[in-house]
Amino acid sequence: MTPQRPEIDPVTGQPAAIVYQGVHKAFGRHRVLNGLDLIIPRGRITVIIGRSGTGKSVTIKLLMGLLRPDQGHIWVGDDELTTMHDRALRTIRLRFGVVFQNAALFDSMNVFENVAFPIREHSKLKEPAVRAKVRELLASVGLHDVEDKMPGDLSGGMRKRVGLARALVGDPEFLLYDEPTTGLDPILTAAMDELIAETDGHHPNLTSVVISHDMRAVLSIAHKIVMLNEGVVAHEGTPDYFQHSQDPLIRQFLAGSLDGPMKV
Ligand SMILES: Nc1ncnc2c1ncn2[C@@H]1O[C@H](COP(=O)(O)OP(=O)(O)OP(=O)(O)O)[C@@H](O)[C@H]1O
Ligand SMILES: [Mg+2]
Repeated sequence: MTPQRPEIDPVTGQPAAIVYQGVHKAFGRHRVLNGLDLIIPRGRITVIIGRSGTGKSVTIKLLMGLLRPDQGHIWVGDDELTTMHDRALRTIRLRFGVVFQNAALFDSMNVFENVAFPIREHSKLKEPAVRAKVRELLASVGLHDVEDKMPGDLSGGMRKRVGLARALVGDPEFLLYDEPTTGLDPILTAAMDELIAETDGHHPNLTSVVISHDMRAVLSIAHKIVMLNEGVVAHEGTPDYFQHSQDPLIRQFLAGSLDGPMKV
């Protein structure tokens, strides 16, 4: 039986860019995803929330073929990943930029080298063009005159910006942020949220997926919010829907409360 891929995201009305259908993933006897159905709309920011250990990072690792599902289907555009060989998956991976939780910079390389590294991998640009590209990418995330600095000498917020500049190399179709504001103070968190929204604004076709614990981000930058719980989508909707929902799980999550259906 040929599976049917949904065409439209019901929450935003946008075309479906990424679709998970009935996805299961377990590690040994530990079941993490239990039939996940999820649509990521094209050209929009989707924020995935949920408790620690609910499978948020696993969900995005499945996208790049870093993990394989046990069951179900995953489409990136029109490409179905679950039947793909490793070589085809590597091509899919080139369509993604990823901003990792800890920025994942090479600590022994300066900022210039950190951003130039993937540019050299992606293209055959000559050195002056590489230099110009690095400068352009750093400027696009609000960084100037930092090329010679080592990652260890940068503030947490600046490291994350360098991580974002690096993720933008190759003009990805999809940008994945795994907890981009973890470890930042509230002001830097707000600045990073703004940068995510700005980056989205500068690249109209970019599809962004943000994993976040930060409720401000969820409500201010998301076009669509997805709440994972026990391996499935517990709730999905616009920020407005979440803000006005009386559902106890949503209320508890937004309030950061210990009392409610989610137990610590
Ligand atoms: N490679 C792996 N091998 C074994 N177990 C794993 C592996 N990757 C993830 N898990 C387990 O799967 C569950 C979900 O992990 P995941 O990293 O997706 O959680 P998360 O929702 O991103 O949590 P957090 O908010 O803490 O980052 C966890 O219990 C984790 O221990
Ligand atoms: Mg995680």
